Amino acid sequence: MDIYTQVVEPTTIRTPPNAASFPIYQTSAYTFADVDEVDQLLAGKREGYSYTRGGNPNTDALAQFAAGLEGAEAGVVTSSGTAALMAGILTLLPRPGRILLAQEIYGGTVGIARTILAPMGYQMQWVDTHDLAAVREALAGTPAVLVVETISNPLGRACELDRIIAMAHRHGVRVLVDNTFATPFHATPLSWGADLVVHSVTKFIGGHSDLILGAAVGSKDLIARAAAVVDSADFTPDPFAAWLALRGGRTLALRMRKPAWGLTTAWSGFPSASSPAATSSKISLRPCEGNRDVGVQRLGCERRSI
Ligand SMILES: Cc1ncc(COP(=O)(O)O)c(C=O)c1O
Repeated sequence: MDIYTQVVEPTTIRTPPNAASFPIYQTSAYTFADVDEVDQLLAGKREGYSYTRGGNPNTDALAQFAAGLEGAEAGVVTSSGTAALMAGILTLLPRPGRILLAQEIYGGTVGIARTILAPMGYQMQWVDTHDLAAVREALAGTPAVLVVETISNPLGRACELDRIIAMAHRHGVRVLVDNTFATPFHATPLSWGADLVVHSVTKFIGGHSDLILGAAVGSKDLIARAAAVVDSADFTPDPFAAWLALRGGRTLALRMRKPAWGLTTAWSGFPSASSPAATSSKISLRPCEGNRDVGVQRLGCERRSI
């Protein structure tokens, strides 16, 4: 073998199957013995990866982690939370149609609506999700999809999401929930019937301010479509960022218990215990150190085990 070939030879060291930490597959491409192997892979007759834009063990490991926490059948990781929102919307509504959005929502989501979706011909409708009568009226206008956050950014308020999802489904409206702020530590919107849940993994799941990533979780069918969007639009995450996020995600539960992170200020934005939202919403904060009583009592909700 000449040195030109030698320097590009793949390593033959086998990955130990019992490593406690998942290896980093920082590779764009994969090697094959011959073209038949590639054909088999592309025909779905063989397991494996061909090109990281369409799949990578690190992003798949993180997707499995996120799906597991949310109680989802499947998940896909994206280059950012914004890309997860885009992939989620394009999955639920591939052709221009009417989208109902919560008025109280992350500014970047407003940016997607105004900068990308509206010029493409999507019609945007905004609704105060804290006003159930307004939600009912807006749903009667037959939007195709509702986009809403479990805990709103930046005001940190929760609406009666379980009831809103049920109302939306009665009108044939599919629901995409951004669960970034609550995280699956506090809420699993798929268990209330949400069709897709998205995350900015950049925030609490990653947890260390050292990466930008997103994730979408849901049924196998919807995630297969979302994964095709991620591949085609190249919303593909970087394997190392996915590795970091999984590493960070291992301490999610411990970190979410701590009152010191930014959302403690958001607790005060939750509906007070006497409000109808507080008594009927299924969102219940797990007790956090230091705000154990405040968090749970203010919500007036029962604790839920995830
Ligand atoms: C609720 C919410 N959704 C989505 C995003 C977008 O995530 P990213 O910055 O990873 O694109 C953010 C970012 O702040 C967010 O707060």
